[in-house]
Amino acid sequence: MIRHIIAAIAAALTVWAILYMAKLDQEVNRLQMIHEIIQKSKLEVPMAKKATPTQQPQKAEESEEEKKLKVLKEKAGRMSAFEVSTTYRRNCASCHGINGEGAVGPKLIGKNKEYILQALKDFKSGKRKNYVMYGLLQQLDDKELDDLATEIGSFAQKLKEAQ
Ligand code: HEC
Repeated sequence: MIRHIIAAIAAALTVWAILYMAKLDQEVNRLQMIHEIIQKSKLEVPMAKKATPTQQPQKAEESEEEKKLKVLKEKAGRMSAFEVSTTYRRNCASCHGINGEGAVGPKLIGKNKEYILQALKDFKSGKRKNYVMYGLLQQLDDKELDDLATEIGSFAQKLKEAQ
């Protein structure tokens, strides 16, 4: 009799263990999927879109999938709060963040134009030594440096307006 009970308990435990593992597996798959979506969303740097009346109807038509992706992107912190120039987005955003919030490179938002311009000039001339910034700035002329400094100098204000 005792043997039967033990056998029954063992069988029940086995079934429970199998079910539990299956559930864990599902959970892991789900996490993996979320992780992949976040990774994908990081690949392209999304641009801020000004909400114009003509874009409103489009927004309503967004698929469920797109909405979810957007939420994930926001969570991943890659959504830009305001629009930036193509020059900045292409050359600088990857390291300094889409809104200058900093990543590999230091945070730029909140620093004034004069400071930024001086830093850029010093990097370009080699007075301030940084191999990455030096190489990058060789391709930009004085006008572009000035424009970038002006733009970055206005990031803090733009962020304020966007919030
Ligand atoms: C590959 C990464 C990378 C890219 C791309 C990049 N930077 Fe940098 N940037 C850095 C790093 C790293 C530093 C820190 C260097 C140091 O302080 O020695 C830096 C420093 C700076 C600083 C000085 C910040 C401070 O607080 O003194 C400014 C300004 C700056 N970058 C502007 C730009 C601009 C404008 C662009 C686009 C044209 C750009 N960076 C592109 C990596 C990058």
